[in-house]
Amino acid sequence: MTTFQLSLGRLRPWREGDEDALSRHASNRRIWNNVRDFFPYPYTPRDAHSWVRSNKSYQQPNNLAVEIDGQAVGNIGFTIKDDIYRYNAEIGYWLSEDYWGQGVMSEAVPIMTDYIFKNFQVNRIFACVLDGNLGSMRVLEIAGYRHEAIHRKAAVKNNQYLDEHIFSMLRSEFRVQNQ
Ligand SMILES: CC(C)(COP(=O)(O)OP(=O)(O)OC[C@H]1O[C@@H](n2cnc3c(N)ncnc32)[C@H](O)[C@@H]1OP(=O)(O)O)[C@@H](O)C(=O)NCCC(=O)NCCS
Repeated sequence: MTTFQLSLGRLRPWREGDEDALSRHASNRRIWNNVRDFFPYPYTPRDAHSWVRSNKSYQQPNNLAVEIDGQAVGNIGFTIKDDIYRYNAEIGYWLSEDYWGQGVMSEAVPIMTDYIFKNFQVNRIFACVLDGNLGSMRVLEIAGYRHEAIHRKAAVKNNQYLDEHIFSMLRSEFRVQNQ
């Protein structure tokens, strides 16, 4: 099973029984304000069921639950792009507000980065951060990602155009860090 220890808990695959904690911790406007609109708000038990159903029981999962005190309280994962972008993985994550500011994602992002480069044919990992999300930018900087670009007013959230900050790490940079 794909499991990684964290100081406060662990990363592990999603499983049946996570639904209650998931809908409770994910249903938060302050999370939703910083992620894509496909992330539900409010996050209903039905949303939680379909998330768990589509993410459980993969050999090499794309999404891992952040488990703290035995409960699933966040997610970290990636999607691999297609066509000429097929060696790119986009990383994404969220954490229950109950645990913000305790270093959880600063630990989780390097672990996921390592997992992706070691197990998938990926040459570049990137993240898209909405303007103002200083916590997420800091997490990526700590993990060694480079602030690569600002896509001006590329996103719309809450009917407002927002700049999007692109952070990335290349496999060659990852190798240097891990020598
Ligand atoms: C962004 C998020 C994942 C950060 O996770 P976290 O576990 O709270 O982050 P950490 O505790 O590891 O903090 C990492 C660093 O960011 C800083 N930080 C955290 N939140 C911050 C904030 N709101 N403003 C400024 N800095 C912040 C911390 O001080 C720390 O820096 P330091 O080590 O230099 O002191 C979490 O706040 C979250 O889920 N937000 C909503 C969803 C989201 O934004 N997802 C990412 C979309 S790109």
